[in-house]
Amino acid sequence: MKINLLEKKISEVNSDIEILIVNSIEGLNEKEILENLNFNAKDESVIFLSESKKIFVGCESNDYDGIAIAIATAIKKFNSTKFKSAMIKADEIILKQNLKALVEGASLGSYTFDKYKSKKAKKIKQKLNICLEEVSKDLEKTFKESIEIAKAVNKTRDMVNTIPADFYPKVMAKEAKKIAKKSNLKYVVYGEDYLEEQGMNSMNSVGRASIHESKLIHLTYKPKNAKKKIVLIGKGLTYDSGGLSLKPADFMVTMKSDKSGGCAVLGIMSVISKLGLDIEVHGIVGAVENMIGGDAFKPDDVLKAKNGKTIEVRNTDAEGRLVLADCLCYAQDEIKDIDYIFDYATLTGACVVGVGEYTTGIMGNNEKLKEEVVSKAIASGEYAASLPFNRYLKKTIKSEIADISNIASTRYGGAITAGMFLDNFIYDENKEKWIHFDIAGPAYVEKAWGYNPCGGSGAGVRMTLEFLKNLK
Ligand code: BES
Ligand code: ZN
Ligand code: ZN
Repeated sequence: MKINLLEKKISEVNSDIEILIVNSIEGLNEKEILENLNFNAKDESVIFLSESKKIFVGCESNDYDGIAIAIATAIKKFNSTKFKSAMIKADEIILKQNLKALVEGASLGSYTFDKYKSKKAKKIKQKLNICLEEVSKDLEKTFKESIEIAKAVNKTRDMVNTIPADFYPKVMAKEAKKIAKKSNLKYVVYGEDYLEEQGMNSMNSVGRASIHESKLIHLTYKPKNAKKKIVLIGKGLTYDSGGLSLKPADFMVTMKSDKSGGCAVLGIMSVISKLGLDIEVHGIVGAVENMIGGDAFKPDDVLKAKNGKTIEVRNTDAEGRLVLADCLCYAQDEIKDIDYIFDYATLTGACVVGVGEYTTGIMGNNEKLKEEVVSKAIASGEYAASLPFNRYLKKTIKSEIADISNIASTRYGGAITAGMFLDNFIYDENKEKWIHFDIAGPAYVEKAWGYNPCGGSGAGVRMTLEFLKNLK
């Protein structure tokens, strides 16, 4: 769907349908008919009055979430009709204050994924017009940025939703290459020989039983006179069967989504040059498939990571941290004077249990930075909550025979113990610069929520871009 921002009076623009976002039906000309149709101005309530060609949609709060959910709901209704154009009818001030939410909500809400449907829904070209009597430079910029950000989120969703038969490490590397070409980024990809040579035995072991070669992907955006340097690292498990510590059947379904952290990093890299930020950004993805077989790594193995630390494997399903351990070391060895180092991973079921499926768990050693990241996440329209490390949980990942164990000795606090495991691979100079994003909940939800579809949501993309845009 095409979204237009027009510097025109509403009366000067012809659109087939009007969209009205309403907090209440009081005072509306259509009050009686809306009442008779049992319409109430609540989230996700929508009605199309075909006679007057108006879509009424409820909105409980005039914040990002409220507006984005409302417009997404209205757009879905619009998309289900054959009308070609719609216009949002609202107060100019409300439109201006909520332009980002409107554009992103409309674009994210109209996302569909029908790659695997034999009969594709007929897509007619539809237009959404947003009319303002006066469009300032700032509003124009917000509009353009929001369009690009939503595109990056939708691109991330497409990759996450693609099945493991079509999206394995080599394909992920190809996608990264395409993104690099389009955005003029530096692109490097390494295979298993390189991982071996570099002593990245932790990452390399996870992919051993897969027929697909593991890939380490590194994209770089390096503008002239960059004022900051940031490294983004993603868990790219194109499939997580659990390995020999095999997942139960019901838990294995959806594990194509275990690449969501890596996909988010690629999504972010796809838009970074378009936003024209004067920041050097590195996107690193550990693309691996965790399978079973005679060559599989085993519970009881001891692996050596790139920084020399030894890891006792007690559960092959805690594989994401093994991949990230080496990717974190690689990043810190290759890139000097880092300002921020962020990793994104569908790392633990425990995080989903702890904060619910819509919220990202934010961990790290720097409380101020964690707060900052959470606040930027909320401002971007994503949900995030800070999870605290502590000395007692830290003791639970000790190992009797190696430097550290890949699982904790306690059943509790699994998101935090996984985060603390990763902390072992953050070098002293970067301790305060690191944030771990556990996106296991929101990255993939098997039912539509707000402006998010069933499946991949693109979690991590908007919050990171909001953080980067506001870097000083
Ligand atoms: N990829 C999973 C985590 C996950 C679970 C993501 C549910 C999304 C939804 C991860 O590799 C995993 O299996 N973690 C284990 C860790 C455990 C063995 C310590 C888990 O969470 O059960
Ligand atoms: Zn796993
Ligand atoms: Zn996993």
